[in-house]
Parts: sequence; structure tokens; C-alpha cells
Amino acid sequence: MIVSPVRFEHRDCALGIGTATPRLSWQVVTGDPEWSQTAYELEFDGTVVRVDSAEQVLVPWPFEPLRSRSRATVRVRVACGEQWSGWSEPSTVETGLLSADDWSARFISPRTTDGPAPILTRTATLRPGIATARLYATAHGAYVATINGSRVGDEVLAPGWTSYQHRLRYQTHDVTSLLHEGENDLEVLLGNGWYRGRLTWSGQRALYGDRLALLAQLEVTYDDGSVEVISTDEQWSATRSGILEDDIYDGQRTDLRFVESTVEPVEVLDAELTGLVAPEGPPVRITEVLPAVEVWQSPSGRTLVDFGQNVVGWVRLRVRNAREVTVRHAEVLEDGELGVRPLRSAKATDSYLLADAGEAVLEPSLTFHGFRYAEITGAEVHAEDLEAVVVGTDLRRTGWFSCSDEDLEQFHRNVVWGMRGNFLDVPTDCPQRDERLGWTGDIQIFSPTASFLFDTAGFLSSWLADLAADQHPDGSVPWVIPDVLRTESPTAAAWGDAAAVVPWVLYQRYGDPRILERQFDSMRAWVDKIASLTADGVWRGGFQFGDWLDPTAPPDNPFAAKADPDVVATAHLVRSAEIVADAARVLGRDAEHYAALATRTREAFARHYVTSSGRVLSDAPAVYALAIEWDLLPTAAQREQAGQRLADLVRANGLRISTGFVGTPLITDALTSTGHLDLAYRLLLEKSCPSWLYPVTMGATTVWERWDSMLPDGSINPGEMTSFNHYALGAVADWMHRTIAGLAPAGPGFREITVRPRPHAALTHASARHHTPYGEASVAWRRDNGRFTLDVAIPVGTRATVHLPGAEQISIGHGQHSWTVADPCTEPEGPVSTVRELMDLPQLWAETVALLVEHGLGEDPADIARKAAPYLDFPPTELPVFLARENPNGAEVRRAVAELLS
Ligand code: BGC
Repeated sequence: MIVSPVRFEHRDCALGIGTATPRLSWQVVTGDPEWSQTAYELEFDGTVVRVDSAEQVLVPWPFEPLRSRSRATVRVRVACGEQWSGWSEPSTVETGLLSADDWSARFISPRTTDGPAPILTRTATLRPGIATARLYATAHGAYVATINGSRVGDEVLAPGWTSYQHRLRYQTHDVTSLLHEGENDLEVLLGNGWYRGRLTWSGQRALYGDRLALLAQLEVTYDDGSVEVISTDEQWSATRSGILEDDIYDGQRTDLRFVESTVEPVEVLDAELTGLVAPEGPPVRITEVLPAVEVWQSPSGRTLVDFGQNVVGWVRLRVRNAREVTVRHAEVLEDGELGVRPLRSAKATDSYLLADAGEAVLEPSLTFHGFRYAEITGAEVHAEDLEAVVVGTDLRRTGWFSCSDEDLEQFHRNVVWGMRGNFLDVPTDCPQRDERLGWTGDIQIFSPTASFLFDTAGFLSSWLADLAADQHPDGSVPWVIPDVLRTESPTAAAWGDAAAVVPWVLYQRYGDPRILERQFDSMRAWVDKIASLTADGVWRGGFQFGDWLDPTAPPDNPFAAKADPDVVATAHLVRSAEIVADAARVLGRDAEHYAALATRTREAFARHYVTSSGRVLSDAPAVYALAIEWDLLPTAAQREQAGQRLADLVRANGLRISTGFVGTPLITDALTSTGHLDLAYRLLLEKSCPSWLYPVTMGATTVWERWDSMLPDGSINPGEMTSFNHYALGAVADWMHRTIAGLAPAGPGFREITVRPRPHAALTHASARHHTPYGEASVAWRRDNGRFTLDVAIPVGTRATVHLPGAEQISIGHGQHSWTVADPCTEPEGPVSTVRELMDLPQLWAETVALLVEHGLGEDPADIARKAAPYLDFPPTELPVFLARENPNGAEVRRAVAELLS
């Protein structure tokens, strides 16, 4: 039996934690299927505390609260009855500076306020006998610290991006090994980062302030226990660096010929220290380095490089005897050259001035780009001279999916890469153009997928603290967090709903009620705000993004979705009110007000927007998906009819996707839950444009912003917003995990699990694995010779309900389980029976044949039917209904079938 070392809060590394009472979690592995925890003991500093409890995730700190800068080494052991396990390996937590009073340092800034990238320096003379040393640091801007020429830590763009007016993260670095007795050089480079750099497409700079500043406190503890503190104060000086320009959107220009400039005094600023917070999740780091795949000359004679993967980071290159080297970046090529139009005003260019002296390795330090391709000028380079340095928040990977369809697997890889690039300290919409903002709508829909693939608990709870901080006093929620758009009264459904949805998703996935507790006022304020916008129970009018980027909207008008934005808005009010009621129940608060609001709004929705036969205004797939999944249809019959109608619309559109940001994450669930699993699969596996797999057929390595960011002819979509790295439409991966593989949370933190794979003839196997807070859960199925085999493993501390095809539900405890039953999948109907059945529908048949002949599929009806059969995937008995609905005159069906066949 193995008990893992304890984990503190949601931190992988617990150095510099921001709480005096960190909660503890551990995992247990045992071969004994009957084992269950009845008690645990925690040990710290000779004190052992016993608690009779089955809980092993985020249990309360049982010892005296820790003080600032204190270390605690903790072990755990667990019991089932009187049988105790051995002690776990110890793990150590160390607090940061828990109160503003712990800082003797003050923010310092160069006297010359407008220069680029200054270096702040000081020499520290230390006595012999250094035992440990910590550097606590943060900046207005981004900082890179070195001690005696060695880099401190491995963070990129520290301190990251928060709502700086309210919250500024500081980092705790262990610098013991970098210091020595005698003189030590401390140097900190400051860049513009998000603080003073350009942000948004408006061209604005310095949205938080125009002075770069550093706050740093070096605390050296000697062997004799004495402590020396070296803080930023007037004893530091400022000097210039060789960095001439640095900007997140535009890139960095570095003069490597630069020699030491004059040293000037610094000014101590009167800046507040009250908003300083310790990080809750991991920092941005270099997470991978990819070699170049190919280097070649473009049609216009430029040197281009392909890294084979759309990434976020920068290019590292080795040059020889070069004077000035320029690196431009792009996600795609167009007409054989870099396709930079999607970057809009972002220059995404790094350049270097060199002294023409031999070999140099070049890379920036204060910027990042979204790119797969780069163009190099000023140096002759070969593939072996080039690397793509991948950066992003260094989240722990927790989720995997695989299946027998290679394109679907590639799509899933694209979702993972999209997340890696866009989880860069805040959850951004895209990483390449003049945007890269924490768009609320995008993460609202993607948070379930994100939380399966990586441990996002600390990352997103920190972002939610920014959301609450930037939320307006009237409850409205900015479109982007941190809020740099500063829109007046931002109340857009699906975007602002991130305030309610994201905390709820985190609670479901990580079982942490404190996230709900902390966000509750923010959640409630949002719902109160939007409830105040209703008339006769529905939320009408006002600015809405609606079902943003519905593929039928023209490239220059992404607002023009088929789904009525008011219907979308009212549906979201129901959902968020319900979430607030659920959260209130978890927290033991009064849920009644919000539960009643949800019920009233649901009734109003039905009254205004649902017909007695289950039609939902404006008869678009997205509104059916919302109405079905959020239970907005009053009767079972209406729900079934709505499901039928959704299925018809999906078929009529030739299985191509026709939803935007709002409908896309729900449509496969809505089809599944109304009995149209086959269509859900076919929609997901469709390859013609627009569809999830179309970009895969075009060689995509990330998820695109638009269904057709690149058009079938290889040209770039002419729309203003055409990113090739947007995670939003990848939100369907959550359905792949839950429904294709069949692994879903059913209780907070996966304490209860639903295992319900829904196999389909299109796949011979599928599997998913997830590191839940309790340990690894996995589901794998395969179809083979008429048999369906399911292998399941769930961790200690959880239970699962298993739905085996064609069998009763089974409740299981931890351990490995396996079953084999008859394969429930029927192979798709063969052409012959389809022909025969079609032949039974003479009037329809005549029309269909006429149409097919028109489309050049030949003259012979049997032959035509054989070719057409795979496209006419629904049971022929449904055809008359479908056709009557679609088109009493025949024109519509012509169009629909033509599309099916085109
Ligand atoms: C972003 C989106 C965002 C949207 C708002 C775009 O420019 O890239 O992903 O949600 O604006 O509608």
C-alpha cells in the first residue's frame, strides 16, 4: 500500500505559498479492493494529529497556523479500521510573505522614466556561513533577475498578468546556491510586459502605469540563525540594457554590441504593497523546445523555417558573422510567404544587432509570439541552427484521450496544443495578434475541457480572483479579465456568465468548495445584474455576442448568427441562476431565491420562445442545443421534438457544423441525450468545411478561431479575426472524454464517477485517462469480433457507476475492472437495404434520383442509390417527415441533398 506525499493547496511546488493554513491532499494506492480510509494522521514537527475521516482531498491544516517564511515538513498515514499504513514520504511547504508588513522593500524605478528595459542593480556583501537565502520579488512590468550572472529561477514574464490595480503576484525564489560570501551582484532586468506595453487593438500603451518598477527583498539566513535583508531602496542603481524595444505584440529589439552605460540613481516610489499576493498556480516557463523541420527559400527569395507545429514562444537561433538579424513570425503561409495579415497590427518581430564576431545564440526574453513559421533575414541559417522555444503556464498534464480514428486523435492533439499556447498566465483567446486577452466567453465554454487536460485549479482560481476584482460594482462582468477594455456596463451573455460557470466547473472537477466560497459574491452579483435586465422574465436587448462565429455569419459580421441573441441570453440566465442556487446549497446558504429565479426564467423562456410542438425560436441548432442541455423545454414530448428538430437541422446541413461559440460545446451532448448519438458522431467526424475535422484535413496543428480560418483553396479567411490558435471550438473535447471514452465526474472532485462509454461503429477503440484529485481514473473500450470489452480503473476514495451497453448499471469501488459484452454497435446500413427501402418511397425516390442525376452521379438508379446511401445516413422512414418539414415544394430538399453530395 502506498500513500503519496501530501500536496499543499493546488500547488505542485509549495515554495512561497500564500496561506498560513494550507489544505492538504494525498492519494492512496492499494491492491485491497475492500480498503477504505476511516482515519488519517498528519505529522509535523513531532506533533501528530489524528482525524477520523474518509476525506483525503483538501483536508484542513490541523496544526498551528504558519507564520511568514516558515517551513513545514509534513507526512501522512492512513487507516482502515485499526490497520495503519506506513508514513508517506515527507513533503515541505514554505510560506511566503503573508502580510504587507513583512516587506521592508519599496518599489524602485529608474530616474529616467521613459527608457526601455532598464537594469536595476546592487552589490550585496555577505558574511561567511550562508545557510539559506530567499529572493521575494515582483515588478511593475516583467522582470528577469540574475545573481552573479546566473539566472534566478526559470520563470518567463514574471510576475505574470493580474488585475494589477488590485492584485500583484510576487515570487519566492530559493537563491541559496547562487550566493557566496563577499560581494554578490544582483541585477534585475525590467521589461514592459503587460504593465507598460501595448495592449488591445486600440494601440494603447501603459494601461497600468508608465513607470517600470521593482520590488525585491533578499533575505539571507546564516548558520548562526541571524538574518540579513537586502531590499530595494535608494541604495540600488539603474543602468540601461541592450534591449532597445520590447513589447508583447511587437517583439524585441536587442543590441548585443551594447556596452555598459552610465549608472544613475533610482527613485523610491510611494506604491502600495497591499495588493501583493502569492501565486496560486504554476508560473509561465519554457515547457518544450522543438527542432526546426525545414528551412527553404520562399518564392520571393526569403529564408523561411517551419517548426512543424503551431506554438507559442519564440525562435532561438545560432548565427555566424551576422550584423543584424531579424526574425518575423506567422502561423501560416499564404502564397508561399509568411501569412501575417491575421496578426493585424502585432509586428511579432525580434531583431538583433551584433558586432559581427563569430557565433552567437539569439533569443528574446521579454516577449512571445504565436507561430509555426518564421522568416529569418541577415543570417544564413540551417535547420540545425533553429529551435522553437515553447512557453506557457507550466500546468501539470492530467488528461489523455485516444481512439482508432487518426484524424480525431490529431484534433485532440490540436486541442491540447491550443491550450498550451493560450494558458499563458491568463486564459487568452489567442496568442498571436494584437489581442491575447482573457476573454471570458472563451474560457467559460472551454473550462471543462481545460480542467480535464491539465490541472487548472490554481491557474483559474487566481484568474477568478481577478474577475471578482475587476467586476463592476453593479455586478456586470468585463468582457476580458484582466479588464483592459474597460467597457461601460459589460453584460454579454455567455461571456459574463464565466463568473458563475468557471467556479462551478472548478468545484465539480477539483472538489474545492473554497473556490465557490471565495467567488460566491461575484457569482451572485452577476446573476442579480442580469436578472435586473429582464422584462416579463426574459433578458432582451442590449449588447450581445450571441452565438459568436456561427459559420453562416459572413466573415465581416461574426455577430450575425442564426440563433436569436435574446434567446441565448435568457437561456444563460437560467443556467447561471441555477449554478448560484447549487453553489449556495454546497455552501449551506439559502438557495431558494436563485432556484426560484431559475424556475421563473425557465417558464418565461418557454412562454416566449418554445412552441407547443417543441420548436425553439429562432429554429437554429444552437438554440436547440441550449434548450435541450439546460432543460428549458417544459415537457418530455417537446424535448423529444426539439431533439428531432435539431437532428433534422444537422442532417439538412449535410453534417457540417452550424453553431458558434455558444452552441458548439453543447450540440453533441444535445444530440446524444435526445437519442441521436449516431448523428453526434457523424457531426464530429465530418471533414468537409465547416467541421471540427476540416482544419485537420488542412494540416492544422492547433484549433482555429473560425471553422474556416483557412479556406479550402489555402487562402486565409478575409475576416478581421482569423486566428489559427483559439481553444474555444475545441470545447467538444469534453464530450469526447465523457461520451466517446465515457469518463465523467459525477460528484465533486471525481469522488463519484460516471463511466458511460457510448461506442459507435466508426471507432474500434477509445480511451481516456484523467488524474483526478484522488488519483488516476481510466476507461478504455474496444470492439472486436462482435464483442465489446471495457476496462476501467478508478482510484481509492472514489466510486463509479458503470453503464455497460445493454446491461444494468453497476456500482464499483476502486481498482481495476473489466467486462466483455456483445458489441452494441451495428455496422452502418449497407447500400442494398438502403436502396430497397428508398425504393419503397416512390414519390421521394423520383425526386431524389432526378437530383442525383443532375449532380452527375450517373443514370442508373441502383448505382446512384449505392453512391448516395452513405450520405443519406438517417433511416429512410424518417425521410418524408424530414422533407415535409424542410420543404413542401422541393427546392429546399434539392439544396440539402445537393449539399450532402457536394
Ligand atoms: C476574440 C474572441 C472573443 C471575441 C468576443 C474576439 O476578438 O478573439 O475569442 O471571445 O472577440 O466576441
